[in-house]
Amino acid sequence: MTRHFLNLSDAGTDALAAMLGDATQRKAARAGWPKGLPDDDTPLRGRVLAMIFEKNSTRTRVSFDMAMRQLGGSALVLDAGTTQLGRGETIADTARVLSRMVDGIMIRTDDHAKIEELAHYASVPVINGLTDQSHPCQIVADLQTIIEHGKALPGLELAWLGDGNNVLNSLIEAAGLFKFKVRAGVPLGYESDAGFIERARAAGATITVTRNAAEAVRGADVVVTDTWVSMGQDHAHNKIAAMSPYQINSALMAGAAGDALFLHCLPAHRGEEVTDAVIDSPQSAVWDEAENRVHAQKSILRWVFGQL
Ligand code: CP
Ligand code: NVA
Repeated sequence: MTRHFLNLSDAGTDALAAMLGDATQRKAARAGWPKGLPDDDTPLRGRVLAMIFEKNSTRTRVSFDMAMRQLGGSALVLDAGTTQLGRGETIADTARVLSRMVDGIMIRTDDHAKIEELAHYASVPVINGLTDQSHPCQIVADLQTIIEHGKALPGLELAWLGDGNNVLNSLIEAAGLFKFKVRAGVPLGYESDAGFIERARAAGATITVTRNAAEAVRGADVVVTDTWVSMGQDHAHNKIAAMSPYQINSALMAGAAGDALFLHCLPAHRGEEVTDAVIDSPQSAVWDEAENRVHAQKSILRWVFGQL
């Protein structure tokens, strides 16, 4: 069975826990090394990952490339606009062809149905590098960062402020898998996917949605936000106005636990969803979180290739 990583549940709790352990261990084992030097065991020696980007990326693109190098393999980028996919070749045919040429496919796209179709026709692993629905790879790095900063996942209280977007959907999915609490402060009309919330609740997670930003943050161990306007969305004035009470600033952050962490998947829009004072504060772990994208991708890659 080909392993795809389209959402966190494709792996499940035990495999994700194994990935988090592997990511932490490999990170420690190569501390201080030049970043392009392969790990001693080069477990993906000879393997090539094709990365298709139908949307912009800095972290996902660089972290997957570096992850493949460190595991002894390599990656190539297909900018959708310059491929035949961008001229109308079908996803199914693209999947069939790439499966004959490379060992795995990572794709960043808009409609989640596209990645499901790609996975259906691919005979090599497909990894979700972000869709309009979800961003599972980001959340593996986020969980690694939370644990690395000394916080255990079961019972953790995590506050989300702002747009109910793809990143929040995957965080809620993680809450169901690892039994932590999410309090989402999200304005009316911008809620996250109801299906993700229902499934997480059914799995035993406490997911609360509130219109009150201070209530969402109160006593939280981790405070998270993301851009108010995701890729592919309009920078509509009414959306920005609705989001503004959910800006994470020092006054709001003061309501969280004294040792609360601040996370943001980046890129940040300083002065919109977060102020400089918060993102540049000692509570902010955003640079660790960004670095952990490399370590987390390595464990995701090892899992899809059957090594975890
Ligand atoms: N967080 C994240 O996915 O960043 P990029 O859009 O730069 O890949
Ligand atoms: N929610 C953002 C995440 C970017 C990494 C977007 O989809 O644009």
